[in-house]
Amino acid sequence: MKFFVDTADVADIKRLNDTGLVDGVTTNPSLIAKSGRDFIDVIKEICALVDGPVSAEVTATDAAGMIEEGRKLAKVAKNVAVKVPLTEAGLVACKTLSQAGTPVNVTLCFSPAQALLAAKAGAAFISPFVGRLDDIGQDGMSLIGEIAEIYSNYDFQTEILVASVRSPQHVVDAARIGADVCTLPPGVIWQLFKHPLTDKGLEAFLKDWEKTGQSIL
Ligand code: E4P
Repeated sequence: MKFFVDTADVADIKRLNDTGLVDGVTTNPSLIAKSGRDFIDVIKEICALVDGPVSAEVTATDAAGMIEEGRKLAKVAKNVAVKVPLTEAGLVACKTLSQAGTPVNVTLCFSPAQALLAAKAGAAFISPFVGRLDDIGQDGMSLIGEIAEIYSNYDFQTEILVASVRSPQHVVDAARIGADVCTLPPGVIWQLFKHPLTDKGLEAFLKDWEKTGQSIL
């Protein structure tokens, strides 16, 4: 499963990219606003740092506007994936941009029917938001299972990009289903490394090693 970082914070992306575990980045208008930076500048900078796809979201709400914005965003760097919302206009824009060779990430997906439409529109990625479904008392992860089942019945190339991830458990559940990608807030990635028994075990090993008086180098 690929790991994307869900942030527009370049410092966080740099640090995570150094782990060698980052396969791409997703941003959205809220994350850009949080960064306090110019949209195009920040996308350019992230694209130069990370080899994989970097999602940059359109803000027009009509298909023609989304296509125009998408074309502009696609020119920022070779690894831009244009993000469009899962609306009728978004899927029209998805089809046009995808046919022209631009990878499109269809975002704000909350149902298997929507995911089916996005695949038919040629989306490179579908972004189902698990956390936001959990927030309203639904089981977000069951949506991932349903989409995986539907996509596996056909020859769709659309990758399932699990979004709105809140915890390491979401990551594990998505991996067990076989989702293609998880986009993770930096905090969740750092949590993945952690286990109290790892810290405790390492402390004990190092204490015992010190007693031997040896050094490897
Ligand atoms: C995905 O691409 C979105 O940017 C993101 O995962 C939304 O997550 P949120 O529900 O935590 O805002």
